[in-house]
Amino acid sequence: MELIDAMFKRRSSRKFTDEPITKAELDMILKSALLAPTSRNRKPCNFLVVERKEILDELSRAKDHGAQFLKDADKAIVVLASEFESDTWCEDSSIALTYMHLMATDLGLGSCWVQIHLRERDGTDAEEIVRDIVGVDLHYRIVGILALGHLESQPEPHTPDDLDKSKVHFLV
Ligand SMILES: Cc1cc2nc3c(=O)[nH]c(=O)nc-3n(C[C@H](O)[C@H](O)[C@H](O)COP(=O)(O)O)c2cc1C
Repeated sequence: MELIDAMFKRRSSRKFTDEPITKAELDMILKSALLAPTSRNRKPCNFLVVERKEILDELSRAKDHGAQFLKDADKAIVVLASEFESDTWCEDSSIALTYMHLMATDLGLGSCWVQIHLRERDGTDAEEIVRDIVGVDLHYRIVGILALGHLESQPEPHTPDDLDKSKVHFLV
């Protein structure tokens, strides 16, 4: 697929079938994460693949809203970035999440970003909750989780009409 076609086709998908993602598909998604650029090439991100239903279920309750569909995902990839390794952990994690989201689209799979950083469950920091679930130290920062699965139905791609050209400015 042309990159621009994948960009139009990319949608956030929250409904998945039970069909498992293959190892080859998962490998491609992880490759895309490892190809993402990082500031000063520090590579602070680690990618934790979660497949166990009980853990996906726990993750789906890690914040007040917008994570429920994780329980129906075939897999989730938790992006864990060490703040000791880079002060741009947030940017680096976001780029890796975006690369994986686009690669999933290219493979015909559904995916959705689940924001964890700056989110809460009943007043508790969602990053703290996810760190407890997956068992990592406090210095691991968690921008988000990518939910992955086979699409229940093909979402409508974006069209040129969706492009808000008023957001583009030229300084003359
Ligand atoms: C930084 C960021 C955080 C997001 N967090 C969530 C989330 O927690 N839950 C969710 O269902 N979707 C989340 N999304 C998906 C957005 O809601 C979605 O990208 C937006 O509505 C546009 O729809 P589209 O992705 O289908 O083009 C997030 C997207 C981004 C870029």
